[in-house]
Amino acid sequence: MYAYPYTITISSEKGGVGKTTLATNLAIYLKAMREDLPVTIFSFDNHFTIDKMFELKKRSGDAADVHALLMGAKASEVVQTGQYGVGFIRSSSELGDIHERFKGPMTLTRMLAESGISGIVIIDTRPDLNILTQNALYAADRVLIPVKDLPSLENCKNIFALFDQRGIDKKSLALIPCLIDERIKFEGIFKDQKTLLRAIAVNLGYRCLDSYISKSPKVESLNTNPDGKIYPILTHARGTEVHGQFMEITRDILRSVDATKETRACLYHTWLLEKEAGKKESYLARLEGLTERCLICGAVLAEHSNDRSFYFETSDRSARGFLHGNCVSSMLCSTLYGIQENDPEFAAARTLVADKAARVVSLLLPRITPETCRLDYRQFSMTGEQLLQKNIQMQGFDAGEFNGVHDRLYLLLNEALAGFEGALRKESWLSVYPVDPNKPEAVLHEESYKNISRLQKQLAEEISAI
Ligand SMILES: Nc1ncnc2c1ncn2[C@@H]1O[C@H](COP(=O)(O)OP(=O)(O)OP(=O)(O)O)[C@@H](O)[C@H]1O
Ligand SMILES: [Mg+2]
Ligand SMILES: [Zn+2]
Repeated sequence: MYAYPYTITISSEKGGVGKTTLATNLAIYLKAMREDLPVTIFSFDNHFTIDKMFELKKRSGDAADVHALLMGAKASEVVQTGQYGVGFIRSSSELGDIHERFKGPMTLTRMLAESGISGIVIIDTRPDLNILTQNALYAADRVLIPVKDLPSLENCKNIFALFDQRGIDKKSLALIPCLIDERIKFEGIFKDQKTLLRAIAVNLGYRCLDSYISKSPKVESLNTNPDGKIYPILTHARGTEVHGQFMEITRDILRSVDATKETRACLYHTWLLEKEAGKKESYLARLEGLTERCLICGAVLAEHSNDRSFYFETSDRSARGFLHGNCVSSMLCSTLYGIQENDPEFAAARTLVADKAARVVSLLLPRITPETCRLDYRQFSMTGEQLLQKNIQMQGFDAGEFNGVHDRLYLLLNEALAGFEGALRKESWLSVYPVDPNKPEAVLHEESYKNISRLQKQLAEEISAI
């Protein structure tokens, strides 16, 4: 038996491609083909299909649901045994406020790791890539992406791009042709829908399962009946080709489950424990502590993830995260040269500043005493030689006033360096590193991050010597 769950996420940004049908029936086939394996399913959607399929008795008002799970309830309180022996968590139509809580991409992975759920967890997602879907994608040992046509295939690129951005291995991702109409035949080598879809997928560099799911009127009819129930394929559509196809997919999944020694949840938990023991810091742990917002414009980075061109870290490492390229260069433009957005030379100046900033490390060291309130600003080469030093008066900063010129700077300093009671933490500073906006998270990988740690240390030594 598995101490941590093996997680399967079904995801596609396209609606109506068969996600929920795949998720729910897969749960039933898995349970049927391996009786002693616990299978738990839940959905981030608010269609309540899962409830209709698995509920043994009608929902009572305050029953624990997915919302409770995401708020941190214990799995034992939210998972209930349903029809066909499948464990399920009730759906919720109130997941809107959860987005705020889900700051990091690995929150759900951690929850599953600590949930005590064993066996297999299947997560059905909404047809979008919101922060919950992202969490479900990163938590998965296996992501199944149903595609039924070219537009849905086209949409897959966003899922692959998410993994690229975060520098996470894409080997968990696989497409599966769904709702395939066997009557459609083409001339030439791509003789039918699934062959064509598979060829295009492979050509785009996506892994595609050998199995597929046909479109069947019988399957379609399973959720339309006088009882208002949704019937499983296993019990009510055994005569269809789809039944055989589900058996094949299930066998394939069981093979990977058996071959997986350590699931994502297990690996993550080990990392957490090591981190707590202070032994080792891993890439995933570094990914966890990032600020949720760009501290200059305040936008949530998961939603405004373009142009994450800088990484900042404070001297005590208590705040770290990405900043928008535009936000940093606008800030430097007004901080260093007093040039503002509405000045005619702004666009040209910002281009110059941005160009420079992309090649240097900026150090922001506030000097606040009863006599002075200034910023010691320095630029260093990537190898640590000082290239520039400038003292900048910060009028009004200690009084908490904004003065139009330094607003962005003040926001950044306050957000990154403020202590318990609002004043800046003593002797704290921060540095800003350029990163590749196409894959900003790569900076946290072992090798690149070594560079940052080394520079941070070097800067700390120089500052203490001043
Ligand atoms: N193999 C199949 N043959 C025929 N119809 C199917 C098949 N699989 C799913 N359907 C039907 O297609 C419709 C969409 O399926 P489903 O709800 O599973 O998609 P979905 O991707 O979860 O949709 P959403 O994005 O809205 O959550 C449903 O009416 C379902 O009954
Ligand atoms: Mg669905
Ligand atoms: Zn910003």
